[in-house]
Amino acid sequence: MNMSVLDAITTRRSIREYTSASVDSRQLEVLLNAALQSPSAHNDQPWHFTVVRSREIMDDISAEASRVYGRDLGDIFYAAPVAIFISYEADSNWGFLDSGIAVENIALAATGLGLGSVILGYPLYAFKGHRGPDFEQLLEFPKGYRFAIAIAIGHPARTKSAHESKPEKVTYLGE
Ligand SMILES: Cc1cc2nc3c(=O)[nH]c(=O)nc-3n(C[C@H](O)[C@H](O)[C@H](O)COP(=O)(O)O)c2cc1C
Repeated sequence: MNMSVLDAITTRRSIREYTSASVDSRQLEVLLNAALQSPSAHNDQPWHFTVVRSREIMDDISAEASRVYGRDLGDIFYAAPVAIFISYEADSNWGFLDSGIAVENIALAATGLGLGSVILGYPLYAFKGHRGPDFEQLLEFPKGYRFAIAIAIGHPARTKSAHESKPEKVTYLGE
């Protein structure tokens, strides 16, 4: 798909329903390249990307996130065929922010490929519980890294309208 960056920014939506179609390895490579090309403070690249296509792992993390959160969150991955977990170097000043920039690069690249995605903070709860270290190991986070954010990706099963844009959130000063 040939889409301008602005088109990708304005048409990206959080997609919470996916078809059963898989995301192929060529598409995944595009997404991970987009992630790896993200800017980072001092070019430290203090992130790691774990691509998860295992439903079993996603179900386990989903159930544990609900347990720790204290409420049934349902499938926090929305039955997406793939999720990418971003972990960051815990000692890094900017690693969490850098990871946020990288996850948006992935979301925009997914839009450009005609895929849907949703950025996911809920998996954090699974890492906060007593099984957190086991999940960090299972997802092969490098030593000293912790969960930052995840993103589910797949083929959208429905469209979604844009969220309300709030111009009052912007202040212009000067001429
Ligand atoms: C840091 C972050 C964490 C989020 N976590 C979740 C989540 O766990 N589950 C979910 O369904 N959506 C999650 N979202 C998606 C937001 O709900 C969504 O971006 C917002 O409602 C605006 O909708 P839009 O993305 O379609 O414009 C998250 C978004 C961000 C930026």
